[in-house]
Amino acid sequence: MIQTSGRRRKLETFTLDADPLWYKDALIYEVHVRAFYDSDGDGSGDFRGLIEKLPYLQDLGVNAIWLLPFYPSPMRDDGYDIADYTDINPMYGNLTDAHQFIKDAHRRGIRVINELVCNHTSDQHPWFQRARRARAGSSAREFYVWSDTNQRYTDARIIFKDFEVSNWTWDHVAGAYYWHRFYSHQPDLNFDNPKVKEAVLKALDYWLDSGVDGVRLDAIPYLFEREGTNCENLPETHQFLKEMRRHVDANYPNRMLLAEANQWPEDAVAYFGEGDETHMSFHFPLMPRLFMSIRMEDRFPIVDILAQTPPIPDTSQWALFLRNHDELTLEMVTDEERDYMYRAYTQDRMARINLGIRRRLAPLLGNDRKRIELMNGLLFSLPGTPVLYYGDEIGMGDNIFLGDRNGVRTPMQWSADRNAGFSRANRQRLYLPVVTDPEYHYESVNVEAQAQNQHSLFSWMKRLIALRKRHRAFGRGTLELLRPENRKVLAFVRRYESEQILCVANLSRFLQVVELDLSKWKGMVPVELFGSTELPVVGDTPYFLTLGPHSFYWFSLQPRAAAAVPADWGLAAAVLPEVKVAGSWDSVLFGTAKERLEAILVPYIAQRRWFAGKARRMKSVSIADAIEVPGTDRSAYLLAIIVSYAEGDPETYQLPVTYANSAEAPQILERWPHAAVTWLRTTAEEQRGLLYDALGPPGFAEGLLSIIARRRRAASSTGMLVGATTRAFVRLRGPETIRLEAALSVAEQSNNSVVFGERLILKVFRRLEEGVNPELEVGRFLTEKTNFSQIAPLAGSLEYRRDRGEPVSLAVLQGYVPNQGDAWQYTLSSVAARPSCTSPSPPTPAIRRSRPSASHPRTSARSTSPSTASRCARWSFCAASSSGCPTMRRTKPSACSTSRRASPRPCARSWPGA
Ligand code: NOJ
Repeated sequence: MIQTSGRRRKLETFTLDADPLWYKDALIYEVHVRAFYDSDGDGSGDFRGLIEKLPYLQDLGVNAIWLLPFYPSPMRDDGYDIADYTDINPMYGNLTDAHQFIKDAHRRGIRVINELVCNHTSDQHPWFQRARRARAGSSAREFYVWSDTNQRYTDARIIFKDFEVSNWTWDHVAGAYYWHRFYSHQPDLNFDNPKVKEAVLKALDYWLDSGVDGVRLDAIPYLFEREGTNCENLPETHQFLKEMRRHVDANYPNRMLLAEANQWPEDAVAYFGEGDETHMSFHFPLMPRLFMSIRMEDRFPIVDILAQTPPIPDTSQWALFLRNHDELTLEMVTDEERDYMYRAYTQDRMARINLGIRRRLAPLLGNDRKRIELMNGLLFSLPGTPVLYYGDEIGMGDNIFLGDRNGVRTPMQWSADRNAGFSRANRQRLYLPVVTDPEYHYESVNVEAQAQNQHSLFSWMKRLIALRKRHRAFGRGTLELLRPENRKVLAFVRRYESEQILCVANLSRFLQVVELDLSKWKGMVPVELFGSTELPVVGDTPYFLTLGPHSFYWFSLQPRAAAAVPADWGLAAAVLPEVKVAGSWDSVLFGTAKERLEAILVPYIAQRRWFAGKARRMKSVSIADAIEVPGTDRSAYLLAIIVSYAEGDPETYQLPVTYANSAEAPQILERWPHAAVTWLRTTAEEQRGLLYDALGPPGFAEGLLSIIARRRRAASSTGMLVGATTRAFVRLRGPETIRLEAALSVAEQSNNSVVFGERLILKVFRRLEEGVNPELEVGRFLTEKTNFSQIAPLAGSLEYRRDRGEPVSLAVLQGYVPNQGDAWQYTLSSVAARPSCTSPSPPTPAIRRSRPSASHPRTSARSTSPSTASRCARWSFCAASSSGCPTMRRTKPSACSTSRRASPRPCARSWPGA
């Protein structure tokens, strides 16, 4: 193995999962530093700008960024002509900026992939300048491939055929020809020289040491030259890749090598070796066939190329793409197919370059939203990892009149402002002009405009990305093609572990019907993933679907009876899901395992008593924020969880979570079985621990009480947790020398209450809403501004204050009022006892309205005696509860009103047991 030396600079502060196969679940966003955002107004994007835009990428949902070459370069091939592998082009900032970018990306759970262009350098690279002057035959000279004649290796094709006539160029300084597969200013390195291999691995180490997670190996098939061959895919190249892989595996866990091998499937597959060369490789031949299929309205080109694609090793993965920074290459198609593609996609000849088409996705597809969605749907569901080209998420246009491939490399369109919000520079200073074509003008096609529109392409892409990330079958699953008679329909099943997803795409612009042979899935129910719509169960006959023009659907094939909640929670614990996380347990809240947890939370939340959306069809759950709660007995977080539904607006819930290690887990499971969310297997511990709802055991609630009592604050990424007390707190709490023991109220409730030593009661709101909760507002007013004594006095509160928007009430702390019963149970018994009741019954609407308030903390169920019930007391509303519904107070029948007004009104002062 080749050894490399050099000081290792470790910058890692990874919160990323230590999953060696992370690239299988990745969504890669390809971007040029230069094109994304210009932070210093010099007309060119830079690393600082990229850092500023990381929140955008995180919000979009991508979890890996592939950066085009950002090294010092004369920029005659947009940076693929490298003059120094271990520095930064000053236009883009400096090494500190680049390292900061890597760190910040990691903090946001985004991995970074950079470029190792090792086939060639710029002719300005010191290695070449040294070589051309060095003695012929010397090691320095032999860094490149020289010849006295330009007639060697004549079977090698010319790749940039619009620009070059030969792969040899005469160098007057060396007095010899040098070899180049691309531009003549890009001499090929000589991999027969061991010093070259060593130098290349050193450059690789430099970036892996800096924390990059993956490396794209540019132009990898062309490393060696041998007479009588086409100088591509030679055994020597594979040998070198094996060495490189061994080197990476031995020194850098969880990294990925990605081959850029524009080859036919059988040759491209060879770059995986037996799982011992590159981890990933682009599937070049599939890409043009996606465009052919949609144009021909026939699945054949796709199915045919998939059939020609050999199986790949388990740890390997295809990288799929629709468009990238180059022309839509037509090298891996037949001459006939190429003619077809040119006819179909290049009405304007200016769009052609080399053997390809220099256009972005939207213009290629006639800016037709349905076709753009369909193509992305295919990209996201066929086997492999999708690579998204910057700007395609908003349907950016191009400019085919700029030279070379510059037309698809124009500045990112952020807003309708000057220079599309990309740069404050004089517009003439921009590295390339922004797109002003009327159809794609930055004033209408930009991030700002689309982010505000739920129906924009950008919003749709976000949903698509989120959906894909929830289903590992897309990244890891097997592929089974179905063969319906209708060739305009492409249908296949992706399967991974227990997950099976049926994907159906209508390649035609007209409505199609299709009959699918789903006999293998008889008895299963297809559930459409975007809307969670259940279709009829699969029966004996072919499954009949009607497909709108260019529509595509993803159906999860699920057992007919969705698993019911196991009654025995001991059993349930045995079947609890398990998530693997890197580092400490809380990386499940921030790292790449977060999506897995979100998927697990869907059924978990659906089964909670406090979940108000049971009657609605849940689509997804996402963790919007996680605030570490200070002062609790163990590390714990308050999660703000957004529940989205098939119809209507989403809701936000509060879920406090913490972790029990393997020794502690059994006790939690036994005593608070409903609190168990999932097993977590961390890298730190050999045995799995338990993630659970922290509001079960007492320690956490005591922590919340202390935040309120000490008026503490804790910051999160988007806001601040704020504890506050009222003037009554000290009196209500009593002497500090007395420890108040916390006990979770056992009553089934829509909120949760914790009683502290019969002095205080903390009501934790589960469903969160913007604005101050009336119970808090009214309670504070009555406690602090009046002498009113008919309510439980307010002692304090816990709020979430966001950078923008209204505060959100998380919990109220009240004085504890001893009591003998649970109002809800009491009401039920009263109703049940109604026939024997002589007094007027409680008005029905009041009972219905009162249910959400049954969680009122002052009550606890069981002790309501029949004699109490038989007094047929009436219930009146005395203060507004969390949901805006009234809180009930038992009073003498004659003494109080049944008004539902939220504002407090005096009631008679009779408390049972008070
Ligand atoms: C492949 C890159 O994708 C392309 O942009 C570049 O021009 C060639 N390699 C040569 O470096």
